[in-house]
Amino acid sequence: MLDLGPARDSLEAIETASRDEIGALQLQRLQWSLNHAWANVPHYRTAFAAAGVHPDDVRSLDDIRRFPFTTKADLRANYPFGMFAVPREQVLRLHASSGTTGKPTVVGYTARDLETWAGLMARSMRACGTRPGDIVHLAYGYGLFTGGLGFHYGAERLGCTVVPVSGGMTPRQVSLIEDFGATTIGCTPSYMLSILDEYRAQGRDPRQSPLQVGIFGGEPWTNAMRAEIEAAFDMHALDCYGLSEVIGPGVAIECVETKDGLTLWEDHFLAEIIDPDTGAVLPDGEVGELVLTSLTKEALPIVRYRTRDLTRLLPGTARTMRRLEKLRGRSDDMIILRGVNVFPSQIEEQLLAHPGLGPHFQIEMRREGRLDTMIVAVETSAESDEATRARHASAFQKRVKQMLGVSILAQVGGPGAVPRSQGKAVRIVDHRPKG
Ligand code: DLL
Repeated sequence: MLDLGPARDSLEAIETASRDEIGALQLQRLQWSLNHAWANVPHYRTAFAAAGVHPDDVRSLDDIRRFPFTTKADLRANYPFGMFAVPREQVLRLHASSGTTGKPTVVGYTARDLETWAGLMARSMRACGTRPGDIVHLAYGYGLFTGGLGFHYGAERLGCTVVPVSGGMTPRQVSLIEDFGATTIGCTPSYMLSILDEYRAQGRDPRQSPLQVGIFGGEPWTNAMRAEIEAAFDMHALDCYGLSEVIGPGVAIECVETKDGLTLWEDHFLAEIIDPDTGAVLPDGEVGELVLTSLTKEALPIVRYRTRDLTRLLPGTARTMRRLEKLRGRSDDMIILRGVNVFPSQIEEQLLAHPGLGPHFQIEMRREGRLDTMIVAVETSAESDEATRARHASAFQKRVKQMLGVSILAQVGGPGAVPRSQGKAVRIVDHRPKG
């Protein structure tokens, strides 16, 4: 792997600012952002009043704790433009979350928001080791999803040559990477595995690919998966976190020199970790739900947004800003199987530790009588006969029981048996009756 150490001379001043400087900037921006929300968004005016708080009460960063949370339900209740803090005419771009159930959540950006976002994405990509002049292959979905366009404008801002492929048509992805000589790729980690399969299907050696840096996000993935991708492609694989309600990708990013969690761009976002059950703020280092407040956004200021993502805050390493530990999953995706909590990412870890099985998986939940059953569909990495699959199934069940303490039913198929996705992988299919 190429040594892509930090380009220290090209860092923005704020990336090496002292904690005091960062805190002072955050406070000043927080006061602006809360006032902006209060003055221009009826929802916030009502919610702040109900909590008995006013933006002028904010004297320190901790005062944010007195403000009410915002949830996806609030965005839905104000569908489509009710949470915007500027006249619609000043909103130059809309994005929306897929919204598999109910209405999608709509987010908007002013000209300055788009500038901010492109700047943050350029900063993020540079932290991953991408440099001006690189060829950036973007296989994140373009469209209402923030992945494609978010990376696109960041890469252009950084001074890269962008290949806006979007997801899908995997054989073509491989030939374009090779023909154009892409040095950086952006896509979901699960889609990178499909691209890997395609390299092998075409008889190409992925280690000979021109790729040096992969920037993966949009869904949880483990360090075991990182190791798999890095070894397969002889490239750096970095984690990128973000969500549309807060801006899109570009909230937090891993730095190539440390790969030890995601540096949170604290000059634009204020983070808290709360106990998801009580809402109480937890100290740094404790695992809980990430809550984010935007500090500079004009079109859609967001106050104490409950992300449902579980992680913890760690001190800065490669930068002075704090880090998020690699996200373990969403609280909504936690499966409680006979009293034991299991995240899909834990299944992924076990799968990658099991020789002979490929990295693709999907969990199916069923209820038989009163008991929940977790069926994990996996596949052998090479063509296999029934006896081999049966052997893998029983060994994998045993491993999961031993390591995670839950009994699963492993369903082992041949290569390609697990459904693929071009964007975010569907990890859980829940057939249990609702309610
Ligand atoms: O997924 C934005 C994004 C695009 C991030 C491309 C990174 C790369 P949404 O569609 O609104 O936005 O989904 C946001 O996806 O709350 C997390 O649950 C999950 N997620 C995103 N990135 C990561 C990550 C984009 N690196 C939701 N690790 C978030 C774990 C992630 N989960």
